[in-house]
Amino acid sequence: MQFNEGLRMKQPTLPLRRPDMPCSSLVARRRLMLAGMAALTSWAAPFAAAQQCRATPRDQLGPFYTRGAPEQADLCASGSGGKERMQVGGRVLGADCKPLAGALVEVWHADANGDYSQFTRGKKDDPACLLRASIKTDAEGRYTFASIIPAEYPGRPRHIHYRVSHAAHATLVTQLYFTGDRGAVEGLTAVLQRDVQGVARASFDITLNRA
Ligand SMILES: [Fe+2]
Repeated sequence: MQFNEGLRMKQPTLPLRRPDMPCSSLVARRRLMLAGMAALTSWAAPFAAAQQCRATPRDQLGPFYTRGAPEQADLCASGSGGKERMQVGGRVLGADCKPLAGALVEVWHADANGDYSQFTRGKKDDPACLLRASIKTDAEGRYTFASIIPAEYPGRPRHIHYRVSHAAHATLVTQLYFTGDRGAVEGLTAVLQRDVQGVARASFDITLNRA
């Protein structure tokens, strides 16, 4: 990080003891130097925290949001929306960078054909693959869900919609994209990669602004 790089301090060289310098004097100077370094470190810490705690950028809600999606950890348990599975999770943080328990994370996305449930004419929705869910964060601010990997559709790279709300914070509407996809929005991407079991996983932390 550019700012932190600027704060990086050159390791001070401890003073060499002059032949006429008593040991007690050298120890005192060393203590002073360490105290000075500690003071500088504590001054720099809030800036480092502020850098990491920047609010997640907003993105469009889109036309396919519906309030009241079911509480479920698997958005497509039947697998009818696509064959490739993914696991997505992360934390919701407050404006002070602390995890937010009880935040409501609403997610929705397209299926492997680029279609959204409840909006495709002539196609009956599979209740076991609605590709939408409402998830509450746990005591450590964590959320997680399983689903199938969405497809891109005309004009849009692969993405997952988020609406995140919490009583003490402003509601955030945003989207998650996958790193490397053409058109993915900078600052809203996560790497989708397979673990040793072959499960594709992505991690996406969200920071809210105060209300
Ligand atoms: Fe969308």
